[in-house]
Amino acid sequence: MWNDLKHHHATVADRKFIDLVDADRAKDFNALAGDMRLDYAKTNIDATGREMLFKLLDDAGVAAMRDAMFSGAAINETEGRAVLHTALRNLDGDPIMVDGADVMPAVLGTLDRMSDFAEAVRTGRYTGQGGAITDVINIGIGGSDLGPAMAVQALSPYHDGPRCHFVSNVDPADIAQVLRSCDPTTTLVIVASKTFTTIETMTNARTAKAWMAEKVSDVGAQFAALSTAEDKTADFGIATDRVFGFEDWVGGRYSMWGPIGLSLMMAVGADAFKAFLRGGQAMDVHFKSATWSENLPALLAVVGIWHNQICGYATRAVLPYDNNLMRLPAYLQQLEMESNGKGVSMDGADLTVHSGPVVWGEPGTNGQHAFYQLIHQGTRVVPCEFLVAARGHEDDLHHQHQLLVANCLAQSEALMKGRTFDEARSNVAGKFSGDQLDRQAKHRVFPGNRPSVTIAYPQLTPFVLGQLIALYEHRVFVEGVVLGINSYDQWGVELGKELATALQPVVEGLKGADDKDGSTASLVAFLQSHGV
Ligand code: F6P
Repeated sequence: MWNDLKHHHATVADRKFIDLVDADRAKDFNALAGDMRLDYAKTNIDATGREMLFKLLDDAGVAAMRDAMFSGAAINETEGRAVLHTALRNLDGDPIMVDGADVMPAVLGTLDRMSDFAEAVRTGRYTGQGGAITDVINIGIGGSDLGPAMAVQALSPYHDGPRCHFVSNVDPADIAQVLRSCDPTTTLVIVASKTFTTIETMTNARTAKAWMAEKVSDVGAQFAALSTAEDKTADFGIATDRVFGFEDWVGGRYSMWGPIGLSLMMAVGADAFKAFLRGGQAMDVHFKSATWSENLPALLAVVGIWHNQICGYATRAVLPYDNNLMRLPAYLQQLEMESNGKGVSMDGADLTVHSGPVVWGEPGTNGQHAFYQLIHQGTRVVPCEFLVAARGHEDDLHHQHQLLVANCLAQSEALMKGRTFDEARSNVAGKFSGDQLDRQAKHRVFPGNRPSVTIAYPQLTPFVLGQLIALYEHRVFVEGVVLGINSYDQWGVELGKELATALQPVVEGLKGADDKDGSTASLVAFLQSHGV
């Protein structure tokens, strides 16, 4: 099917897809999940290509793998684990069996404990030495940071709990800045780490502990832990009633639906957090039941596959016209690139097509004044994903929101339409003449024919955020199944970690750099000569 698709692409690659976009296509190349709408009419995918792409999903056995994932089968083969982040949002508690036992009672029990603790903090029942908690610091990295950090920002209109800070980088600049802004006697530190061994997180946690110990007599009482390694949290001095555990079948980058979401729950409250879970659950139901042509995750996946593996576009820009989604691109970088940045399929064979794309982006309209130049006129095509809400949360400034929406729609229109040489020429004909006119017009040409999709929704509520994140998770799943890879391991992060551990004594001058390559050894020497 890959070859058929590539052949089909070759036959349609040169056409202007704007010629396809009539009212029928606008209806046909759209799908809804609840109130969330995906428009993929502004792409060069036609009905024939779409059928071939659906065939690719069927040939890869996406439906069977999807059912296996939801049922708790160990589809993360290289780590021998189930993939069950969906259980964390299975609020109705329908049984999900892993190794013969229903996981739901423990999941829902932990959710209740989180809710009790979050509400105790939010209402001032749980206090620090100096009184009610004013600040929560989440210390974690990767999936133990990006999800809650993204979501707390995304749901800032609902934030009525303590201030939330996120420390992730081992660079001391990160934690120092946050600690400067907090009072240790009214701060709760959440150490978020699935493994409770990640060097950045444990280093920052120890720094926070020492900072708090200067002013607080019972430091352990102002710490909480979120982890699968509950024994290690006890060694760190955190009492079990503030340890919120989860199982290894929750991948780090898929973990914000459970205990790793505690900071989000502190910010917006248990009810709003549960609305977020409900949104994710609604997308799960949709993903399980909708036919491919109505199925948002499947459609987003086939558009991604078309652009990346078939057209050869190496990157994908995520462009939220929703400022509160400013951390979404960073969150998606981990979700997509750590999941699908693999070169070997499940059976150990090298991939014969490219792995997942480079994902990047910034909110609109800021990006328009920074990098859209390249998206419009650069020599490489960058497929774009626009996200936009019908309404913001600033009712008194709705006209400003309308301007935002107009900009979003204008960008996808401009990318598709472009501007011809003749149009550009007539635009500047009053200013220039002769050779100068042609030369000047050339710079003002937009090639157009550049694809995009738009995800539109009524308003960025907790429920909608849940829908959106689950949509992206399932899209990654579908793309991974089609590529035949394991989207749930991350061996590619290991080598750098090992070498960093080996390099630390070299950097500290406790060990020579003799076994290092010339470049690394001379960089160490340079940094040492400047005081590292
Ligand atoms: O190094 C990558 C990684 O393992 C991610 O997959 C994970 O989200 C992150 O580190 C943090 O891991 P942990 O939650 O165990 O500290």
